Amino acid sequence: MGLPGGGKSTVGRQLARRLGARFLDADAVLEERIGMPIRAYFEQHGEAAFRDIEESVIEELTREGGSPLVLATGGGAVLRPANRARLHERSTVIYLRSSPDELYRRLRHDTQRPLLQVADPLAKLRELYEQRHPLYDEVAHYRVDTGRPSVATLVNMIMMQLDMAGLLPALGQGAAPISPDPVP
Ligand code: S3P
Repeated sequence: MGLPGGGKSTVGRQLARRLGARFLDADAVLEERIGMPIRAYFEQHGEAAFRDIEESVIEELTREGGSPLVLATGGGAVLRPANRARLHERSTVIYLRSSPDELYRRLRHDTQRPLLQVADPLAKLRELYEQRHPLYDEVAHYRVDTGRPSVATLVNMIMMQLDMAGLLPALGQGAAPISPDPVP
């Protein structure tokens, strides 16, 4: 979990590879289901309708069963108490924590995220951080700061946290060993 632009999909995909797990992006599953980009859906049906579908997608994807899965959730999934409860109880939640300034540097040219199509996206990111940081923090089992580290380093940091918590064996035999960061 984490704010938009924090690297949830990129880090999640790499983490899944290291764990020998499947990777799914809840927003991609959702877009397949609604048959249009999220931005278009927001414009036509509004945020509340989007959140209803998001909730049912998360309910399905976190249900027990199947092979190990790394799931990236949309930044706003944390807003609904039902999502928070399901994610916390049914999965190991990792919060990719990023500052609004860092996210603004990455997202200032973004045209796809409906909430950021406003006159002052930095102010919006600050507002989202204020509102959501406590919620991410409440739901998370582990937290990593995305500020400086590369994707490979972030994945290593997460692998180490999971390892220290004794969760790696539980995730399956496919997990790759924790390796030093590649030399750039
Ligand atoms: C949203 C974040 C988006 C997407 C939708 C709403 C949000 O996902 O679910 O645009 O409320 O922050 P990302 O966090 O992957 O950008």
